[in-house]
Formats: sequence, structure tokens, C-alpha cells
Amino acid sequence: MSIPDPKNRINDLSGREWLQFQKSWFLLEKNPLPEFVKFFTKYQYGDGHRGAIAIHPENATMRELVLAQNREVHQLAAQASQNYVDYVYLDFTTINSLSQLRQQQAEIEKLIDRIERQLRDQCYITIVVNNKHGENGSELVAWEMAKIFGAFFQQKDEKIGCRKTTVDAQEEKQNGWAPHNSVTYFLHFRKEKQLDRKAKIELSQPNSKVKKTPASVVGNFRKAWYVHRPPRRGKGVLLHPAKFPEDLIERYIKNFTQPGEVVLDPMAGTGSALVAALACGRSACGIELNPDFVEIAESRFSKNDPFQLITGDAAKAESYQNLPPADYCITSPPYWDMLRMRGSETQKKRKDAGLQRWYSEDPHDAGNIDDYHDFIKLLQQIYHLVALNLKPHAYFTVIVKNVKKQGVIYPLAWDIVAALKDDFLYCGEQFWCQDDQRLSPFGYRYAWVSNTFHHYCLTFRRDV
Ligand SMILES: C[S@@+](CC[C@H](N)C(=O)[O-])C[C@H]1O[C@@H](n2cnc3c(N)ncnc32)[C@H](O)[C@@H]1O
Repeated sequence: MSIPDPKNRINDLSGREWLQFQKSWFLLEKNPLPEFVKFFTKYQYGDGHRGAIAIHPENATMRELVLAQNREVHQLAAQASQNYVDYVYLDFTTINSLSQLRQQQAEIEKLIDRIERQLRDQCYITIVVNNKHGENGSELVAWEMAKIFGAFFQQKDEKIGCRKTTVDAQEEKQNGWAPHNSVTYFLHFRKEKQLDRKAKIELSQPNSKVKKTPASVVGNFRKAWYVHRPPRRGKGVLLHPAKFPEDLIERYIKNFTQPGEVVLDPMAGTGSALVAALACGRSACGIELNPDFVEIAESRFSKNDPFQLITGDAAKAESYQNLPPADYCITSPPYWDMLRMRGSETQKKRKDAGLQRWYSEDPHDAGNIDDYHDFIKLLQQIYHLVALNLKPHAYFTVIVKNVKKQGVIYPLAWDIVAALKDDFLYCGEQFWCQDDQRLSPFGYRYAWVSNTFHHYCLTFRRDV
């Protein structure tokens, strides 16, 4: 065992081991509990106490895995207990539906009471939980569970565990498109010294406006996660701070449309979705607020290409006036105002290279909105207009990340899904995982901050 670093408040890992844990996604091949125990606890703390953990469900296998790491296991007790713990690991993967979650909500809140009493301040809780997707829609158990815990503890980060799947034929045959169920969420919360408990948590109700209708036939690209390494970006498009890779978008376009159909991107940037659509033999249309990006995008097409790009505001109905109804939309919004965050390494590099660091100074630019709720409302308005411009039963994919700002997680992907429930049926999330980025030792020695290397690709269907 290496000699513990007294400055390391969280664990006994070396810098290298710390870094390895920081990737936000991992291959889930064996029980990951030991890795989490090693990251979130020390063998012994400054006041002499041994690292102690509470687990749920408290079964023999889980117990053995903790004891093998030389940590103690304490029960979460119904009455006041002096058996304080340094970490809590809760496995809720047996909950498969929202109705099961509702039935267990009171029990979970009792468990939370016990955690509040026994977990030391500034210590972490990991919740292991799944969303379930199928042809009858999605059961967003993981995200609803986060709401329950987020009312008592500060949500800090997430990791996703990716399983290799052998897909059963039944799943492949289903009519409506849904991704495979091969990703597990590991959601992290921290007990703060002072955090006001939120009022009673109301879990989301299904929306009656959206009806499940017979689905159009689509391709079989249902992987819930995949690693994609984009080719290097060309000089012109490098000017744009965040474009998505055309070869990835082609995969989606081929899956959700037929040749000759129309693909829309209402925030087209340098036109990657449009370029991908044309490469697949589809027609393309889009809207982009910043005329400089429109110019770059136009330089990527030739005159006879079937495309239409409007310089305009995607939140205004008139921007769509001259566009044809679309068979599919794929888009990516600004990740709130993150490009304006100081100190990010990418931004420093872009500044040094004299490249543009944010999209524009335009107040209509969604990336310039300070207030998170106003930002979500603007996206809701834009995607409502997208819905009106899509053909019935057309699919719609949004590529986005959950955002971390000043130590707090803003679940942008989850909030977009919640905001669109009147306009679309949510079909499920796929993860574009990156393994070609350098890891940075964020939070080293004092806090858990992952390197977010997974993007959510959220797919919806226009079934209203
Ligand atoms: C994440 S980028 C999209 C990048 C694009 N997918 C690509 O590959 O180049 C978001 C884009 O939304 C644009 N944008 C922001 N607010 C907008 C609005 N209200 N209407 C239209 N475009 C907007 C920004 O200028 C930026 O180019």
C-alpha cells in the first residue's frame, strides 16, 4: 500500500490512480463497488477513525467487497447512532419502473433521513440506478431518483457504466425506436454542512397530450453507448467553438431517414448536420443566428446542392417560414453559457491561438443567457417551433451534455427532456463516449470532479 498523502482529503490514491477514476464513463464488466470505495474513502482519517461505509442493499456480497478494501461497514440505523460513515453506496438497479419508484418513495425518504444523521459532512453518496427504454416509451427512474436525493443533498457529478450487450432478438424487432438498456448511472451527491431541504418531492407524471402512435420504420442503430473519435477539424470550421462531427451525424441521419428526405438543424453553426445530410443523399435545411458561421457553412456547399440555410433566430416562427416540413431534425444547442466560463483549458488554448471563444455577442444567442431557467425556456421555445416544422412521427435528436458550474451540476440533458414533454414522445438516450481527450486532475485531493467525456444524444418522436 502506498503511503497516504495527508493533504489528500478524499482518499489514499496516487495522482495517477486519481486521474484514472476521473473519466466520466467506464466499461461495466464487474461489480465496481471496490473502485468507488477506494476513491471515496480513506483507510484512516486525520482524527484516527477508520474509513466506514454504509451500503444498500446490505447483502453479503457487497459487504465482502467493502471489507476486502479494509474499510468498515456500518448499518444505517433507524434511531440516532454514533456509527458515522464516510461514504454511502446505494444500489437501486432493481427498480425498473416509475410505478415501482413511487411505491418505494416513502422507504427511500426514510433511508435519506438515516443518511442525513449518519453521513459525515462533505462526504459523498453514490446512487446506482437505471433508466429503462422500450417501445412503449421510457421509464426515467434514474433522473427521478436524482430529484429525490437532490432535495436533501447537493448533486455533484455523474459517471456512466457501459455494458457490452448481446441484444436479444425481441429488442431488435420492436416497432418504435428505443436504445438498448446497457448503461447504468452512478450519480454522486454530497452532504453539505448547510443545505435547505426542499419541499416534498413530486415525481413527474406522464403526459397525456403525447400519444404513442404506430412508429415509422427506422434503422437498427440502437447502441446505448459507443466510442466515437472524430477526425481532425478543417481550418475553416475550427473557427467555430463547438461543432459536431459529420461522420457521427451521418449515422443518425441514415438511421432515422430515407434517401431524399429533409433534415433540419435550427442551430446549424458551420453546417455540419447539413453537410452530413447531403453526404447521405438527403436534402438539408437550417437556421443559424451568426452570419459569420452561415458564411462558413455556405462555403462548404456547392450551388446545386439541395440545401437551404437561413440567417435568423431559431426562436422566431418567421425563421422557419420558407423551410420545407422536415423528416428529421438533429441539432446541438449551446451548452448554456459554458463557453464564457473562465479558466477552462480549451478556452485558454483557443484564446492563445487567437480563435473565437464564444458564438456571438448577440443577446438572442442562447449561449449568452445567464439565468439557467431562462435558457431552458428559450430552448423549449425553439424546439416547440421545430416540432411544428416536423412531419408527423418524425424523429428529433438533440446532442448535449449535463453542465457543471462552480461545483454544482445542472442536468441540462434531463431538463431538456422534461421541457419537451408536451411536444414529443421521449424515446431514449444514447451516449457518445470520448476516449481521445486528455484527462485533467480536477479537484485533486479535495473534491470529486469528473472529466465529462460523454455526450447525451437524446431522441424524441413527434407523436402529438
Ligand atoms: C453547439 S453550436 C452548433 C454547432 C453545429 N452543430 C456545428 O456542428 O457547427 C450552437 C449554435 O447555435 C447558434 N445559436 C445560438 N442561439 C441561436 C438562436 N437563437 N438561433 C439560431 N442559432 C443560434 C450559435 O451561433 C451556434 O453556432
